[in-house]
Amino acid sequence: MDSDTAPHAETPITPDGQTRRDFLTYATVATGVIGTGLALWPFIASMNPSADTLALSSTAVDLAPVAVGQRITITWRGKPVFVVHRTADEIKRAEADDKASDLLDPQRDEDRVHKSEWLLVVGICTHLGCIPQGQAPGSNRGEWGGWFCPCHGSQYDISGRVRHGPAPRNLDVPKYDFKTDSSVQIG
Ligand code: FES
Repeated sequence: MDSDTAPHAETPITPDGQTRRDFLTYATVATGVIGTGLALWPFIASMNPSADTLALSSTAVDLAPVAVGQRITITWRGKPVFVVHRTADEIKRAEADDKASDLLDPQRDEDRVHKSEWLLVVGICTHLGCIPQGQAPGSNRGEWGGWFCPCHGSQYDISGRVRHGPAPRNLDVPKYDFKTDSSVQIG
């Protein structure tokens, strides 16, 4: 066949046989992908929580200074969390009451704690959101030794279970994990 009438064959420009057209096509696609990635980056980055938001969403608590029988209140996501270092007697009472007939929201104590000596509950009454009394020594802890809500009289036991009053459910247990025997990460 006459070389003038033969189909035009491009001369490879790379050792593996890529032609100039192939190269330009790849270069255009690559530029497009990179350009799209760069354009999307601020949007993708904005979907990640900022460092200060992450810090607020979880709270580390050192439990070592909390003596047996002591109660402390910490703030997590703007809410009070009651932390109780329960005594052997309180643990015994909480577990003995697992089958009590007056539990308004029946739940076993062991399903509300990770370690029986530590109880962590959100300190907000599940009725209308008042903060129950009982954290300070000598404050009203109600008939079951946990917390007493001064707003409408709900009472909670030492597992945070509602035993009396209009509150519809037990005090909420926040998500938490023990990082060591004496430190816990809430959230
Ligand atoms: S808010 Fe606690 S009993 Fe109503």
